Amino acid sequence: ETIYAYGMTLIPGVIDAHVHMRDPGLTSKEDLRSGSRACAKGGITTFLEMPNTNPATVSQKLLEEKLTLAANKSIVNYGFFLGATLQNMEELKKGTRTPGIKIYMGSSTGDMALTDPGLLEAIFAETKLPIAVHAEDETIIEKMKQELTGTRNVLDHSKIRSVEAEVASVKRACELAREYKHRLHICHVSAGASVDIFEDHADVITAEVTPHHLFLNIDDYMNLGTLAQMNPSLKTKEDNEALFQALLDDKIQIVATDHAPHTWEEKCGRYPETPSGVPGVDTALPLMLDMVAKDKCTIEDVVHWMCEGPALVWDILEKGRIEVGYDADLVLIDMNKTQVIHGPQMESKCRWTPFEGREVTGWPMRTWVCGKEVYRDGKFDESRMGVEAMFDHDRGGYWEGVE
Ligand code: DOR
Ligand code: ZN
Ligand code: ZN
Ligand code: ZN
Repeated sequence: ETIYAYGMTLIPGVIDAHVHMRDPGLTSKEDLRSGSRACAKGGITTFLEMPNTNPATVSQKLLEEKLTLAANKSIVNYGFFLGATLQNMEELKKGTRTPGIKIYMGSSTGDMALTDPGLLEAIFAETKLPIAVHAEDETIIEKMKQELTGTRNVLDHSKIRSVEAEVASVKRACELAREYKHRLHICHVSAGASVDIFEDHADVITAEVTPHHLFLNIDDYMNLGTLAQMNPSLKTKEDNEALFQALLDDKIQIVATDHAPHTWEEKCGRYPETPSGVPGVDTALPLMLDMVAKDKCTIEDVVHWMCEGPALVWDILEKGRIEVGYDADLVLIDMNKTQVIHGPQMESKCRWTPFEGREVTGWPMRTWVCGKEVYRDGKFDESRMGVEAMFDHDRGGYWEGVE
């Protein structure tokens, strides 16, 4: 087949290292088919998913059940984190076929907060898999909640989930990573002040940032209300700038979406009953390509943050299916296409986005997974499913070979 691509740009498929697909158990929000279609349309050829589904992914058996589900439903490649609980240490020690262990150091959707400090330390001391953390200090969050009791204003979300709450938690995680020489990845950093803490990465620490923490801030509550409610909360315009600079300075290694779909009806409730989280896989690559169009970074930077970075952080290997040669996960992008982001155009079940109305330049047009075209100009080929991502944790992670 000849691919006509005059004036277009071919890049590696995006690896989104942080999504929530809600399957099993919460499939009115999303499922592995709708979520993976949204990925394909957004130029994402592999996703790594978090454990806060129902049931939560907290044992090897449940992890493998999820892998089987994905094998039958996901049109892009996939991997699943193993979640830490108060009583699954043995599972965490022997976990395989996973990018790593996810620890919620603070509460969020799914009630998986692990607030026992001794147990937190024990996981760093006794397990081998790389650890990803949701870093927000639950004690600090709770204290602020008490002070603001009776609140009905979403503006308070950023006061409750403060910079201090993130900084304290990031500090603790970094101390543990250094003490036990345990690989640590800090998910969705939201505050510039957090970057100063892990800047000295000590060979074991990596971090990620989401498009919403790069491009939205507390001023957006005015228009978005609870649609802008997520954990960690939005911070200030200065934080947006510090986080983008941290990417440019290689202090944050990857851009991941934290795709956290909730229905429009759920998000239109009243704070604080409304759920936290925003969708992201449909819009992440266009939002980052728009930075290229605006001369804020290069296309090589975007590939570094969205393709190469996640592959290195999570030790992702060539995948299983192709017998001879390498499989091709590719995206053809049109850097000259300008289009307004609209909820109804999304493939995610959400059909809403906090970036509604934003005009961005640079859009994925065609997506190949394992050498097969799964998405082209609005149409999907769902005749073959994606494959399980493989992880070679002996490889050593992002900093292997970096001075
Ligand atoms: O806003 C969020 N939503 N933050 C999280 O940590 C979880 C996520 C979700 O699953 O809804
Ligand atoms: Zn999180
Ligand atoms: Zn880098
Ligand atoms: Zn998340």
